[in-house]
Amino acid sequence: MKAIRGATTVDFDSGEQIRERVKELLLEITKQNALKQDEIVCIIFSNTTDLHSFYPAKAAREAGFVVPALFSALEPEINGALEKCIRVMVLTDKEEKPVHVYLHGAKNLRKDITQKINIALDGPAGSGKSTVSKLIAEKLDILCLDTGAMYRACALKCINEGVTCTDEKAVDRLIKDINIEVRYKNGVQRTYLDGADVSEKIREPQISMLASTVSAIASVRKKMVELQRKIAENTSCILDGRDIGTNVLPDAKFKFYLSAKPEIRAKRRQSENEIKGIFQPYEEILADIIKRDEQDKNRKIAPLKQAKDAYFVDSSEMNIEEVVDYIINKIQEKI
Ligand code: DC
Repeated sequence: MKAIRGATTVDFDSGEQIRERVKELLLEITKQNALKQDEIVCIIFSNTTDLHSFYPAKAAREAGFVVPALFSALEPEINGALEKCIRVMVLTDKEEKPVHVYLHGAKNLRKDITQKINIALDGPAGSGKSTVSKLIAEKLDILCLDTGAMYRACALKCINEGVTCTDEKAVDRLIKDINIEVRYKNGVQRTYLDGADVSEKIREPQISMLASTVSAIASVRKKMVELQRKIAENTSCILDGRDIGTNVLPDAKFKFYLSAKPEIRAKRRQSENEIKGIFQPYEEILADIIKRDEQDKNRKIAPLKQAKDAYFVDSSEMNIEEVVDYIINKIQEKI
């Protein structure tokens, strides 16, 4: 069950205007959510105490919403609250992500859920970016795009085709026809290479360094960045990567750079790997992380770097919840 929220206001406590605005709000909600009447379980209204002339629920019936159960309630009087306001919650069985609708004087009420937002989360390997971005995406009900997975898929393609990741010419040829897709199953990203789901395969430790190597090649970056921008263009999402704030979405309103001491990142990566049944000595993981930092920070094109307008978060002494809370608070402050 999903809840679609919305609100509108009227200029006067007039039955006619309440009827008209309720109808407008419901039609906009059904249009924007591509909802049919029989997909609506119920519609719940609440309105401020300064509206007496007409029940919003009755207006909904008159507007043709005869199938769903309807209910109207009066809100308590709250000092400073928006006046002459009608709020609505439409409950539906549809599983799609709800589009909330706020009209007239209520337009600015819930910018956090109606505005398209792009969040850039950059940082080095093992800084916790992917865990943090998944949790933030869940909390804000937005999409989460792990851009590293795309470079990992490019590295896997090189392995499959027997191409060395440093051989620029051969990689250029390979990248021309590569087909990388990102799909979402229950909100979780799955990465496809030439039609096959490679989400698990690309997590193998040997892919990490090769992904870093292949990501330094211009043709690879060009193609992956195009894909990433296309996804971010129409959807609210958080992108985690190395160059999101500096290159992929330089105009993103919310930018964060997450880091931690290499030793701590190596420990975290080791624990993560062990959960997945991958066992690698700590020293080896630490050496890989340091080498990968070097490579990612020193490549010529779009190197790993904190954007000037990004918040820096050192998670060495913070747990995941603390990092998530910090980022969410910063977003709420700025929204
Ligand atoms: O985040 P990750 O470990 O999955 O990323 C693998 C490699 O991909 C990383 O070492 C560098 C590259 N990468 C990149 O160059 N730009 C990004 N936006 C994301 C990852």
